[in-house]
Amino acid sequence: MKHLFRQGKAGKPVLLLLHGTGGTEEDLLPIAEMIDGEASVLSVRGQINEQGMPRFFKRLREGVFDEEDLVYRTEELFNFLEWAALEYDFNRKHVIAVGYSNGANIAGSLLFHYEEVLKGAVLFHPMVPIRSLNLPDMNRLPIFIGAGTNDPICKPEETKELKSLLEGAGAEVNMHWESYGHRLTESEVSEAKKWYTSIY
Ligand code: MLT
Repeated sequence: MKHLFRQGKAGKPVLLLLHGTGGTEEDLLPIAEMIDGEASVLSVRGQINEQGMPRFFKRLREGVFDEEDLVYRTEELFNFLEWAALEYDFNRKHVIAVGYSNGANIAGSLLFHYEEVLKGAVLFHPMVPIRSLNLPDMNRLPIFIGAGTNDPICKPEETKELKSLLEGAGAEVNMHWESYGHRLTESEVSEAKKWYTSIY
């Protein structure tokens, strides 16, 4: 997978950056810098090209996912993480996802499919990636969700559904609401940073 890796300070986590539709592996670098400038960064570009826009999995239309592809791409990303930990010699158990929109959705899908796949997750404007799965035990996994009360893509009801699914699996979810639609705002990122600093 096309990606970039930046080595951080020894002992710091690895931030796995997952961009939104139409983004690249460069997009979330300033966000990672704001959240933890000393962490290592592994930033990945989505493998799907939707009319020139990179994504992490196919969709049938806006908000309707191609579930077969989602499962396939989730496994591909999982395997990539295993490979990257060896290649760049980082602690595989010390990876925290930071995803926006489509990137938050594939991060959510990792959590829905694999136990202990992440040490934590910052999900900006996520949706429920897939329904009717038995979720693995999330064993108090810390998760931050940034959402919009008026987000037309990731609707508040769906965000709340995601929160209760994650909590039902044992995760500890911290919600932060804004009213700027689907936009990722600076104040949302600074709330994520406060949450991150209180945990890691
Ligand atoms: C998705 O397709 O993952 C969501 O609709 C969010 C997005 O538009 O990227």
